[in-house]
Amino acid sequence: MSDLKSALGEAAAAAFAAEGLPADYGRVVPSDRPELADFQCNGALAAAKAARANPRDIAGRVAQRLRADPRLASVEIAGPGFINLRTSDAALAERAEAVAADERAGAEQVAEPRRVVVDYGGPNVAKPMHVGHLRASIIGESLKRLFRFRGDQVWGDAHFGDWGFQMGLLIVAVGDEGVAPETLTLEDLERLYPPAAARAKAEPDYRDRARRATAELQGGREDYRALWRRFVEVSRTALQREFAALDVRFDLWKGESDVDALIPGMVADLQAKGLLLDDQGARIVRVAQEGDKRELPPLLVISSEGSAMYGTTDLATVLDRKQSLGAQLTLYVIDQRQADHIEQVSRAAYLAGYAEPGSLEHIGFGTMNGVDGKPFKTREGGVLKLHDLIETARAKARERLQEADLGADLPAEEFESIARQVGVAALKFADLSAFRGTSYIFDLDRFTSFEGKTGPYLLYQAVRVKSLLRKAKGEGASSGRVRISEPAERDLALILDAFEGALSEAYAKRAPHAIAEHAYRLAQTFSRFYAACPVLGAPDEATRASRLRLAETVLRQLELSLELLGITVPERM
Ligand code: ARG
Repeated sequence: MSDLKSALGEAAAAAFAAEGLPADYGRVVPSDRPELADFQCNGALAAAKAARANPRDIAGRVAQRLRADPRLASVEIAGPGFINLRTSDAALAERAEAVAADERAGAEQVAEPRRVVVDYGGPNVAKPMHVGHLRASIIGESLKRLFRFRGDQVWGDAHFGDWGFQMGLLIVAVGDEGVAPETLTLEDLERLYPPAAARAKAEPDYRDRARRATAELQGGREDYRALWRRFVEVSRTALQREFAALDVRFDLWKGESDVDALIPGMVADLQAKGLLLDDQGARIVRVAQEGDKRELPPLLVISSEGSAMYGTTDLATVLDRKQSLGAQLTLYVIDQRQADHIEQVSRAAYLAGYAEPGSLEHIGFGTMNGVDGKPFKTREGGVLKLHDLIETARAKARERLQEADLGADLPAEEFESIARQVGVAALKFADLSAFRGTSYIFDLDRFTSFEGKTGPYLLYQAVRVKSLLRKAKGEGASSGRVRISEPAERDLALILDAFEGALSEAYAKRAPHAIAEHAYRLAQTFSRFYAACPVLGAPDEATRASRLRLAETVLRQLELSLELLGITVPERM
């Protein structure tokens, strides 16, 4: 079942072909001027340019053919040669009916599913998560859900930062402090880590001790391993709680350390392939290429102390995902600032034959900034911890609900869970409503508002539809075949048809904002429909049944869209 936009595109393509012109000029898009048309085709302009012909003439001939299409109520030529298409009420009703009958609400699946890893979140041992991890978690969770919904086989992997230099630093810091491993808590780690990191930057001796500890840990020194296991355990428990609070769920919680056993073999393999070079005692892979605008530094595989590095575990993870999952595509959802790192790892992986060229993609994103335009900090100037951020959003959501007099009569426990959902929706929707590459300003007041393009607005609209449907049920009103006659009904059918286009764009560009945009337009269109077309008070039973069916379908599509953004709709508010 294809969407109306694509089906009309096929008809236009056939019309161009029948005129002896390339079929790809037949692309159909939503109209720029909804008051004039539902869709438009601009292909006659390009076709005329290529054929040195008159665009209005080509448009006229193509339009004449399209007029025979029963799905079109009118086909007009506008301006220099745009073809404006107005669909018939019957065609819209038929498409809306098909969307209504489809449990996927009109969304297609990929023809050839792939095995896809989404590497996102990227939390670290001992270091509290900050807003960079927030964006990675939100965007990654959405992409994971989207790819799975499109039919791919998907694994979301946290790629826990539990190996490398930070571990050596902690070992030294904990040792100097004399904390017994069994009593070590996350608070200890969070207290000890920042000064240790600062000290390693300032004091070469301290840094060298940490480097040696890292190498010894990796080499298997038992007391270090025991200490490290404790670090991992306490950090992981706390982190998983934070992710759960955000409705972020990983399928795999693999750590950098999990590929440790693969490293010696990989190093030997890189050596055998002639890719490993000696660089003042360290071992590197050169990844610069001809045509690079600036020189990309080599990938550091083994440090001069003999340790595996951040890039080493990443490279071995590529190998592991190929061997154990058969991964065909990997999306690295990581801050734009790690673009070079991912580029180094990817190029090394392609050179070594660990992944198909092009199959490792960096899904970068901008930063979440404060009003000063710099990456968001707390009022005290520190990096905001994710945990505190979620709590702040939840508190604000509670306040907003009370202001709007929502949920006041609900049991306290349910109210709390709604406040959490509203807070999460506010954070996630704000993050996903613009293209991921764009940085945005953190403005909790705006994010949590029930008005405007926000998560809470969308939840509120969805809950309204739910309550309408409950009321209908209570009155014994049932839904029936879709009929379309009012302009507001036409608009609703058109927006329901646009779901597929939004998902395919989001999938192709790895860009959830297309789904966010659709959800917002759908909610707004429904709101206008609801104001213009009484549902329970419809003039006759068939109209009421049709409008109820439209409302049910809007709800399904809205909930699905939000679910793909990682947002859950409460039953009521
Ligand atoms: N732990 C890293 C950090 O906090 C992010 C990990 C991203 N994923 C990866 N495969 N490198 O910066």
